[in-house]
Amino acid sequence: MPEYLPSPSNLLSATIRRGHPGFLDLPWGVPLDEWKNCCPRVEELPRGLSRHPVLFVSYDDALYALKELPDGLAVREYDVLRELEERRLPSVRPVGHARVRQNDLVVSLLITQYLDHAMPYHALFMRSSLVRYRDHLLDAMAVLLVQLHLAGVFWGDCSLSNTLFRRDAGRLNAYFVDGETSEVRDEISDGMRRSDLDIMLENVYGGLLDLDAMGSLPARFPVDDIGPYIRSKYEALWHQVTREEVVRADEQFRIEERVRALNDLGFSVDQIDLFAAETGDRLRLRAQVADRHFHRDTLHSLTGLDPEEMQARQMLNEINERRAILSAHENRSIPLSSAAHNWLRETYLPTVQKLLDGLPKSVDPAEIYCQLLEHKWYLSERAGHDVGLAAAIADFVRGDLRHVREA
Ligand SMILES: Nc1ncnc2c1ncn2[C@@H]1O[C@H](COP(=O)(O)OP(=O)(O)O)[C@@H](O)[C@H]1O
Ligand SMILES: [Mg+2]
Repeated sequence: MPEYLPSPSNLLSATIRRGHPGFLDLPWGVPLDEWKNCCPRVEELPRGLSRHPVLFVSYDDALYALKELPDGLAVREYDVLRELEERRLPSVRPVGHARVRQNDLVVSLLITQYLDHAMPYHALFMRSSLVRYRDHLLDAMAVLLVQLHLAGVFWGDCSLSNTLFRRDAGRLNAYFVDGETSEVRDEISDGMRRSDLDIMLENVYGGLLDLDAMGSLPARFPVDDIGPYIRSKYEALWHQVTREEVVRADEQFRIEERVRALNDLGFSVDQIDLFAAETGDRLRLRAQVADRHFHRDTLHSLTGLDPEEMQARQMLNEINERRAILSAHENRSIPLSSAAHNWLRETYLPTVQKLLDGLPKSVDPAEIYCQLLEHKWYLSERAGHDVGLAAAIADFVRGDLRHVREA
């Protein structure tokens, strides 16, 4: 690799958030496309298609994505990503932005934190071991659009390439990557939502045609149906979350039911609005959701773990079971926090340590744990009784973990 000289004099200005390196040793005066020949920090990792040069650099254990944009655009995208972070939306985390001189040209660079344990969509389409995730991928895109729209974000460029996917208890969560065209408001209109869906339809269709041209789609893959499928999932979920219900004044339980149904989907309910309905003693009920962190927040406050939403839901089920068992055993009511600590210490941490032994660092511990739970459930179903954790771990390590290594 040729020597390069760090060129801070080409760095006109930069803003870097606390807790990250200063990035001063990067070859700022060189176009990003040429960095792989001159910068030892560059890491080759799979990524989606992009309009602009994008690459990854590593500093010790931390990985960052850099994107080169025309002057002025990086700060704009950085601001959008900060707004998304504030609204607790699933997106890549902004780290900083810079203006640099490259010969006679001034360009801007956006720095984001590399999203761990995530995959670009084409990995999900191309690897046969991941085929079972395809439907989940479409559902995940619909959920992401609903989350953005609920929070007042117009994406403007929803596409497969602008989304990253993380596994979540056998399903997927979609993460927002590219905010170049986005607008963040208090609330967005139905017209803007429709426009985002139209853009999604066009982009998804285009993305699938690209995959088809690369020979990455199975024969007779229904390219035309995919965008409309995402839209119908979006519309169903949007309706579920935002619909108004009419309840009788004495139907307090209907409010609780509504909140529970939203929590089950992961949405935290911020407030319930009630309005007098036109007819008699009826009320119109509307729920305002805050974010999709319901189980994550609960699990985090109990254990300090911060997995994906549905992973957290499964773990909380385990903690509740543990509480019931401990309470029965000790013949008294055990607080949930004690059960959570017992589960973390006796079960989760030692199990994850065993499972991760010899696996690459890119493997998400929480997802491996959830896969083990599913495996244990499957073995127990087949055996007609609970096979126990130790037997499930032994069988899982012998069998399924091989697939995990491949994936
Ligand atoms: N923070 C990140 N973590 C992981 N991958 C990323 C990150 N930022 C970008 N990528 C990858 O780079 C690709 C291109 O990034 P994107 O912001 O969409 O660029 P463009 O604006 O040129 O389309 C994405 O599809 C994604 O795969
Ligand atoms: Mg993009």
